[in-house]
Amino acid sequence: MRQAQDTEPAAFTRGEIPQWSSLHGIVRDASPATASHCARVARLALELAIKTGLRGEELRAVAATAMVHDIGKLGIPASILDKPGALTESEFARVREHPQLGYEMLRWACSTAVCTESVRLHHERWDGRGYPYGVSGEAVPLIARIIAVADAYDAMVSDRPYRKAMGHEAALAEVRACSGTQFDPALASAFAEIDFEMINESDLALQRSAA
Ligand SMILES: [Fe+2]
Repeated sequence: MRQAQDTEPAAFTRGEIPQWSSLHGIVRDASPATASHCARVARLALELAIKTGLRGEELRAVAATAMVHDIGKLGIPASILDKPGALTESEFARVREHPQLGYEMLRWACSTAVCTESVRLHHERWDGRGYPYGVSGEAVPLIARIIAVADAYDAMVSDRPYRKAMGHEAALAEVRACSGTQFDPALASAFAEIDFEMINESDLALQRSAA
């Protein structure tokens, strides 16, 4: 099993923020739906990071990383990403390449290894049954574990071409049910404590409908 280089968020220099913001702009131009999803995940990830006790530069790192966590999807054909039905095994294999593709795109733009590493590992699971490497537990950087929870929640409460969105309570129950398997247990319980009304559901819904 491959080990992550860092396990905790590192300082994210202010000088890198404009670079990462422009990267989000590139995602938005190429795929508005992916950019909207990234923005919603960043908002949720930020709240979860605050609940987890992260502060200052660490929060900046979480938000900036989440804003571009799916940039690798720009390397996946739209015919696969937007397919209005179940994916074939080979199509799903292409989709599973996006964390590594994102890492390859970002590693030249960011000197903070834990951020690029978190893009690469945002689909890993606490129990090691995720992809692309099967890294488990705290060997997955905290930023990646935070994004994994926010990402899964947003996916559940969003419409997909092949299924309707799940409600907030049902999605929250699913996060709890996957505590200790898919998600870091501490993060799964902290996520349930987020004040979802306070984060302005209408903003999130607006971004969802614009996608
Ligand atoms: Fe992803």
